[in-house]
Amino acid sequence: MDEGRRMVRHLLSDFDLNREEILEILDLAEEMKGDPGRYGDALRGKTLVMLFELPSLRTRVSFEAAMTQMGGHAIFYSIAGGSFTRGETLRDGVRVLSRYADCIMARVLRQEDIERIGEVASVPVINGMTMKYHPCQNIADLLTIREKKGTLKGLKIAYVGDGGCNTAHSTIIGCSNVGMDVTVVCPEGARYSPDPEILRRARERASGRIEVCHDPLEGVEGADVIYTDTWISAGMEEEKEERMRVFPPFQVNSELVGRAKEDCIVMHCLPAHRGYEITDEVMDAPYSAVLDQAGNRMHTEKAIIYWLLRQ
Ligand code: CP
Repeated sequence: MDEGRRMVRHLLSDFDLNREEILEILDLAEEMKGDPGRYGDALRGKTLVMLFELPSLRTRVSFEAAMTQMGGHAIFYSIAGGSFTRGETLRDGVRVLSRYADCIMARVLRQEDIERIGEVASVPVINGMTMKYHPCQNIADLLTIREKKGTLKGLKIAYVGDGGCNTAHSTIIGCSNVGMDVTVVCPEGARYSPDPEILRRARERASGRIEVCHDPLEGVEGADVIYTDTWISAGMEEEKEERMRVFPPFQVNSELVGRAKEDCIVMHCLPAHRGYEITDEVMDAPYSAVLDQAGNRMHTEKAIIYWLLRQ
């Protein structure tokens, strides 16, 4: 074991948080959002290192703003191509960073890489998105849904689009864990459906139902929340042509939203591709929660960092 290694809590996937812990983080985020001054010094002297193999707007800026607003500091470091400077391995780089930083957030393509970072880091590690999971996004989504609907338990969320992507997986695990019913509405075929092992594990701990449906109009019936994301996630660029043929029936447009509950809200983790997975009309509608959802990233990043550091 590394000299500086100690047992620390990480957030490497949505499976790392149980229901009570999610609710604790949501309550903390709500408190921080309502009274930011109270936490203005909460991370004084603390440093977050942010490793990015892939580009980001929301994750990078919301984490950096979160640290600034709590009296700490965030350092951006690019690991485009998957390695540190001059070819240094992830393992060596992360062990060094653990000596400088109080917390590491990393956006890497492969889930195996964030797991490896977690294995060797002696400070908490946060998954800032891999191809498999996007847990920080789901925490912000849950806060947004609770703000809009006043509750989580018993609501139906319909995830429409690529059922096998990171935000779909995180929605399945996180939302069902807090008692929401999740319907994944996706094209047929393993390529576009949730990972069966993730479905199995999520169902084991879920207090809400998890279903997979291939008919968009049927899938959104009775939905309180419709959620969508890009049809071409990071790492899927080579499949663009085929995906552009398969996904159009799963576009979130006014007709589809009209089949859900009258007070249904629409969410998108952004960046959005207007005219593809979501229309302008829906993005800009009064029932669209996308900007509040993006804004909540900063409040929930604050809560996640603070919560992990005090474990
Ligand atoms: N939703 C999200 O993670 O956005 P970025 O890719 O801009 O960080």
